[in-house]
Amino acid sequence: MTVPTRARQRAADLRAQLNQHNYRYYVLDDPIISDPEYDRLLRELQDLEASYNELVTADSPTQRVGAEPLSSFEEVKHEVPMLSLSNAFDENEVIAFDRRIRERIDVDLVEYVAEPKVDGLAISLSYERGVLVRGATRGDGMTGEDVTQNVKTIRSIPLRLLGKKHPRLIEVRGEVFMTHQGFLTLNQRQSSAGLKEFVNPRNAAAGSLRQLDPKLTAERPLQMFCYALGEVDDGHMPESQFELLQQLCDWGLAVSPLAELVEGVEQCLAYYHRMVDQRESLAYPIDGIVYKVNNLSLQQSLGSVSRAPRWALAHKFPAQEETTVVKAIEVQVGRTGAITPVARLEPVFVGGVTVSNATLHNRAEIERLDLRIGDTVVVRRAGDVIPEVVNVVKKRRPRAAKRFQFPIRCPVCHSEIVYEGGEGIIARCSGGLYCSAQRKEHLKHFVSRRAMDIDGLGDKIIDQLVEAGMVQNIADLYALTVEQLAGLDRLADKSAQNLVDALEHSKQTTLQRFLFALGISQVGETTARQLADHYGSLESIMNATENDLQSLTDIGPIVATNIYTFFRQSHNKQVIGKLRRWGVMWPETGTIHRESAKLPLSGKTIVLTGTLSAMARNEAKARLQDLGAKVAGTVSSKTDYVIVGAEPGSKATKAEQLGVEILDEKQFIKLLTKLGSQ
Ligand code: IVH
Repeated sequence: MTVPTRARQRAADLRAQLNQHNYRYYVLDDPIISDPEYDRLLRELQDLEASYNELVTADSPTQRVGAEPLSSFEEVKHEVPMLSLSNAFDENEVIAFDRRIRERIDVDLVEYVAEPKVDGLAISLSYERGVLVRGATRGDGMTGEDVTQNVKTIRSIPLRLLGKKHPRLIEVRGEVFMTHQGFLTLNQRQSSAGLKEFVNPRNAAAGSLRQLDPKLTAERPLQMFCYALGEVDDGHMPESQFELLQQLCDWGLAVSPLAELVEGVEQCLAYYHRMVDQRESLAYPIDGIVYKVNNLSLQQSLGSVSRAPRWALAHKFPAQEETTVVKAIEVQVGRTGAITPVARLEPVFVGGVTVSNATLHNRAEIERLDLRIGDTVVVRRAGDVIPEVVNVVKKRRPRAAKRFQFPIRCPVCHSEIVYEGGEGIIARCSGGLYCSAQRKEHLKHFVSRRAMDIDGLGDKIIDQLVEAGMVQNIADLYALTVEQLAGLDRLADKSAQNLVDALEHSKQTTLQRFLFALGISQVGETTARQLADHYGSLESIMNATENDLQSLTDIGPIVATNIYTFFRQSHNKQVIGKLRRWGVMWPETGTIHRESAKLPLSGKTIVLTGTLSAMARNEAKARLQDLGAKVAGTVSSKTDYVIVGAEPGSKATKAEQLGVEILDEKQFIKLLTKLGSQ
């Protein structure tokens, strides 16, 4: 059948449009049409191709999924070997790397590109005259597997490169990976289907790309960042790694948005530290930084040793997971009496520190893990998060491994333990401030940096003060004298004096800090700040009704009850009275919204959703609040803006439905800069 010219032209036009929209959606994260519009264009192309078979091309967006399952993968020989990288585990090794390069090429300062080392698997993509013809795994570096059908299902990989004048053949290399969120969702699906869960996002990405049935791969949330070239035939190539990244981007391939040009080893290390801080807020796992000599001809003259180039180095982050043995399980009593089981571990170096305790969260968690004393476990410490046990290595369970009996009485004050929360998940000591463990934790919270900020009053001193009966409640702290303190273990006269000075100094505080320091259940810094801003004085807060309190965005019925009941208890009123008599004070205005009225975002309600790459959610929230905005948890018609990061939740959809203005990360950062947030 001959294909009418109009149909041919329309098909070509649709393919070009769909490829462009695909790129905007999956690579730039900046779509300009809605999903239904995209689907309509795709359907039209599918219909055309169904009517005229000859119109189907390898780069047609209809060809992403649909290939038949394979019985095995073909081998692929890499014409240019896929090298691996030498690793550095500390700064000295990076300094030595830079020194070797400077000596070899005889210069004082080397320009590098620093890029995150994404934790996925290396893949090579071959494009012939701009059309994707093959995708292959790295394998042993010389020979990999042909995973073309699977690679085609990854939406951020273009089936045809954008732009014109592509080399006859070009092989692009990069990392295929899965985001944390994609990994969690996949594992939930696996477990509800009774299938095996993946251990980490990298294994999940690798397992997904090695499916013989591309329909399965298509269901997996895979992405790719490109960072290098392999074989190139007949094409003008850029002169530096940084220009190469730009070129890849212009062709419609995704590259890491975090890659940067740096000069010399000091800037390399500064970049590394910045990324260590950002690591936890990224949507995908990274396990280090790769430094690459920027100039490609210098790269060539430096060459490789064995299987790794001399011009690149992987500076690894400390591992976040390690295995160790659980020596014992004990329970700890928190400030509000919550009883948390803790695993005492054979000390292990993980996440950059030596860890000997890991939280087990609650009774149900021990059952979920099926943890016994004596078990070998995988411990995880990510960022500043408390170390936790991720799973038990069952194969290494000794015969003598013992089950843990959860106590029925508080191990400290022997009061009965009560259970609350869904399915009685939270165990709580019913002893209240009679329990010395709760008293100690309450005091520790009161003196902490973000509360009254009393320098030098460490945990050990508080333990002694409570055990010796010198301090019963937070107000008693201000009665302490130098003589009394100097009598404590390991506290020199000088430190005792400093401590009394610090106590004195802490008396000048703010209403927000004071409210937070009181340790009212579920009143964190944000709620304290809202209360202080809204009511302006402690008296107004103490007199507020539950209904009144609930009019604040962050306060629901439970928190309102907590606050209301706290201020009705005579014990609490007495302690507050004593603190004020000791001279604890803060500026009170009594006016509503006293500070926020002047700020640029006052009166605006903003909701954050998804992951931001430049800062953690908490930081974004704090910055907005500093500018006077209310940061709310749910989108409503009263919301002024929704800030949408990567992988946003249903809040973004809700915002669209309600017609609330949406800002992406770039626009958000611009706004912050414009309003002078720092
Ligand atoms: S460059 C010759 N850049 O790390 C250069 N590799 O340990 C070869 N990787 O096999 C790789 N992110 O799978 C490079 N920005 C990045 C990377 C990266 C992750 C992986 C890649 C490689 C392995 C080497």
